[in-house]
Amino acid sequence: GTIDTTPVYIGAGQFAAWKHTQLILDVVEGRGGMFSLDNGTGRRFLVRSRAYDEGEIAMLHRADRLRAMQAAHGRDADGFWLAEARRLDWSVFPTKADESSFDKRDFGIRWFADGELNVSVNCLDRHLMTRGDQQAIVFEGDEPGEGRSLTYRALHREVCRFANVLKANGIAKGDRVALYMPMVPEAAIAMLACARIGAVHSVVFGGFSPESLADRIIDCGATLVVTADEGTRGGKRIPLKDNVDCALERASGVRSVIVMRRTGGPVSMREGRDIWWEKACAAAPDDCAPETMNAEDPLFILYTSGSTGKPKGVLHTTGGYLLWSTLTYDLLFGPEHGRDVSDDLFWCTADIGWITGHSYVVYGPLSNGARTVMFDGVPNYPDPGRLWETSARLGVTIFYTAPTAIRALMREGDRWVTPHDLSSIRLLGTVGEPINPEAWDWYHERIGRGECPIVDTWWQTETGGALIAPVPGATATKPGSATFPLPGVSPELVDGEGHALAGAAEGNLVLTRSWPGQMRTVFGDHERFFQTYFSTFPGTYFTGDGARRDADGYFWITGRVDDVINVSGHRMGTAEVESALDMHELVSEAAVVGMPHDVKGQGIYAFVMLNAGEEGSEALRGELRTLVRKEIGPIATPDVIQFVPGLPKTRSGKIMRRILRKLAEGQADQIGDISTLADPTVVQQLREGMNEPA
Ligand code: PRX
Repeated sequence: GTIDTTPVYIGAGQFAAWKHTQLILDVVEGRGGMFSLDNGTGRRFLVRSRAYDEGEIAMLHRADRLRAMQAAHGRDADGFWLAEARRLDWSVFPTKADESSFDKRDFGIRWFADGELNVSVNCLDRHLMTRGDQQAIVFEGDEPGEGRSLTYRALHREVCRFANVLKANGIAKGDRVALYMPMVPEAAIAMLACARIGAVHSVVFGGFSPESLADRIIDCGATLVVTADEGTRGGKRIPLKDNVDCALERASGVRSVIVMRRTGGPVSMREGRDIWWEKACAAAPDDCAPETMNAEDPLFILYTSGSTGKPKGVLHTTGGYLLWSTLTYDLLFGPEHGRDVSDDLFWCTADIGWITGHSYVVYGPLSNGARTVMFDGVPNYPDPGRLWETSARLGVTIFYTAPTAIRALMREGDRWVTPHDLSSIRLLGTVGEPINPEAWDWYHERIGRGECPIVDTWWQTETGGALIAPVPGATATKPGSATFPLPGVSPELVDGEGHALAGAAEGNLVLTRSWPGQMRTVFGDHERFFQTYFSTFPGTYFTGDGARRDADGYFWITGRVDDVINVSGHRMGTAEVESALDMHELVSEAAVVGMPHDVKGQGIYAFVMLNAGEEGSEALRGELRTLVRKEIGPIATPDVIQFVPGLPKTRSGKIMRRILRKLAEGQADQIGDISTLADPTVVQQLREGMNEPA
């Protein structure tokens, strides 16, 4: 037909080159044939297109949309972000988008700073008219089939009630509330209730010890804790309330503890401090006016491990975080063309104690009006078929988990998968660590019937939501690669000196521009925020990860390049484990590094030097493991403890971790130059010691 090759305006005003137009026309056309389009300027275009099937049409739509977004961002970044901000309901719409600077002189991260909105309104109220009776949360307990679901209306009511309970207990805008909860709807209710009244929540993973809980409560200055009597995981009970009692012996600023009944197990309630959730809510009114929040008001603090010191309180704010979780949920997991978001049942298996649980169990899905699963169990209880049995029973359509879970279940064999009808699943996702090709293939073949796309999402607690990930249907994937940056995300690879690497290269992964979901500060320590992320490669945000870009421009995350290890997709600072080990009276010094682990991705390898004259023993290994569990939690338990006569140190006394890493990786022959060591013979001793039982 007649083809005009000049750029044209289409539909909602998206500027597009001819190739782009062709795609849109093809899509509109669908079944093929002649088609004509008025581009708004009065010129008509006539096109003949071939036939497409439904799947292809959906793909073209997505690819097209992604390209349009990227083009729009390239043309006018602020205009793009303000247009995207329309995804949210604002009481005052912002006039400005990005006012961030990575530069030391005017350092700061700010987005939509003159906008006002409330997160709970976006996750609840705005859906009531259209989705009030639709499921919001589908809860699945530890025992298969133990569950219930909450509609948006019911969730709204419970959130308002609990918000009133918080207020009645003296919590006001800006106050910090610690949550130490199982994966039950009440956890999401508590988060959203905080958001409703402008309180700042800090969720602490229920697997952390009372010591870790106390550290976090003290650091963020929480005055109220929400918990449950006990948690249940894999048939075992976790004494959450007892742990809180224990933590509060040290964290003395807490005035109230709200306890929900999960198991009915015995707990001691302290008069004047502890109250039952159920009782308090029963007496509370079920309407609560939302607090108007500035876009830059804090939404939550979440602690995460770094290379040095204690875990940092990563602070996220209201507008940017919500936009990023909302936008990325839609791009990655949104409905197929012509479908509604409620046609899907989305299951992200992460615990709300981690950022993945914040962004993709609670905020992202609910803001989009989706149906989100909350699972309070573990993948291997009552048997290794649990995730598949539950997916089939609930009719899950999108399943998002960590590679470590896939590897663990893959090892149990296909017989745990085959009995279950997984035909409802249409899309798979992974997060938290690189996925190895073997696990990718198994996931794709056995769970995804060889048909479902896999979205490998790279991101961090600090980033709020996914930054590098394929948009299903629009991005051709390569197993093990997180593929390309999402629209508006600017990754770069730099060498050790910070020089940008072009083309196919491997280096340190940095981001050269801010994005709305970026963390705003380390709570209480803005200087540490700058030092940790912006001082290594000035002018950029340094992720702590290494990455490779292949000849096609695909990103492959190679893992952390700092002293952070990734155990089963959980971040662990080697310094934290070391300081726990150092607490033992017989330990002189400990050095911890990551080691390859078939299931966990990385395991924890501890080199422990005892005081002069002390001998290592199996009993002492047990004591050290117990100590770490007590100080941090079971996830930090060392896999290997090697007692060593000395540690490889430079003459200035710095431990050469490079050497320890090589040893732990079983690459003792690749240690390289050790001439800078104060005592090079240490290396030989370490090598010999490795044959001992661990
Ligand atoms: O090393 C990267 C790894 O997990 C780190 C972030 O951990 P955390 O803040 O706990 O957040 C985990 C969930 C977002 C990153 O620095 N990581 C995360 N996703 C991937 C990944 N590594 C490779 N591929 C991924 N998809």
